[in-house]
Amino acid sequence: MPEYLAFMPQARQEEVRALHTVMQRRLRQNKKGFRLFREPYESLTGIQARHLSLADDVVKIGDRDELSPDERQLVYKAMRRFMPWRKGPFSVFGIDIDAEWRSERKWRRLEPVLPSLTGKVIADIGCNNGYYMFRMAAASPALVLGFEPYLQHYYAFKSLNAMAGLSNLAIEPFGVEDIGLFPETFEIIFLMGIIYHRISPLGMLKEIRAALRPGGCLIVESQAIPGEESVALFPAERYAKVPGTYFVPTAVCLQNWLRRAGFTKVELFCSHPMSSQEQRRTAWMTFESYEDFIDADNPQLTVEGYPAPRRVYFKAFKA
Ligand SMILES: C[S@@+](CC[C@H](N)C(=O)[O-])C[C@H]1O[C@@H](n2cnc3c(N)ncnc32)[C@H](O)[C@@H]1O
Repeated sequence: MPEYLAFMPQARQEEVRALHTVMQRRLRQNKKGFRLFREPYESLTGIQARHLSLADDVVKIGDRDELSPDERQLVYKAMRRFMPWRKGPFSVFGIDIDAEWRSERKWRRLEPVLPSLTGKVIADIGCNNGYYMFRMAAASPALVLGFEPYLQHYYAFKSLNAMAGLSNLAIEPFGVEDIGLFPETFEIIFLMGIIYHRISPLGMLKEIRAALRPGGCLIVESQAIPGEESVALFPAERYAKVPGTYFVPTAVCLQNWLRRAGFTKVELFCSHPMSSQEQRRTAWMTFESYEDFIDADNPQLTVEGYPAPRRVYFKAFKA
């Protein structure tokens, strides 16, 4: 049963346990799609890092000399099975994993404005492989629970944390749609790279607010279009080649969504254009990346002719 519930007296515990049980049963299925990522995770049983480094740009789990050559090869093979790596960088027993996103840049923008994470109960919605959760762990939170429904990322995190052995980090293959099971539970919620993928962004923000304890803090990061008007782009199909993109707001539009969802002290603390410095193809992510999503003749536009994305960052509170 999930041990993290001990930190969540307000959560709908019976329902969380029931969902956890259903999900774990599903994950144990013998179908290829489940084995694909479960097997590399299981192959790492017994590999435990002695040294961790979480406070610098590269999340380091174990030093090179902690493993025999055969064990290192095992870890390398398992890590390659989780390709394409979207978030990083990581160094795992000296194996450097250069991910598509330079996630340390986002963390550097966030870190100066974060409330203290020490001793806090935190959710990271859409946590991917947990890069930011490992960075949070440097501040000794009571618990960070990652929500990540995609099995590739779920098992990448499980593998990394099996080797790292951090008991205050946990993950569930839950989606943001399950956040209603956690009323007044979290002191801090991270919602990064999610909002433009939701059909009902305002409804989601209200549910997220309900999951915060009174006084709790939300950190939102999102794609945004440039402009001063309170409007959102609704792409005909894809935006920057990404399917499942619904509303891409301007910064002021997202600010208004947050206010009308009931948040207070809504503060835009960072805004910047996207670039191929920050999102690019690497040896661990060999597919198309930012430069393929943008009009080659006009970097102000996506390949579909929409305004090219910026990234915006907000901090907001539940009174
Ligand atoms: C654009 S990435 C952002 C990852 C990370 N939060 C960041 O800011 O770098 C979106 C993440 O949300 C996950 N995701 C997809 N559907 C989701 C859902 N319904 N609820 C929560 N996360 C979801 C994806 O698998 C992916 O890891």
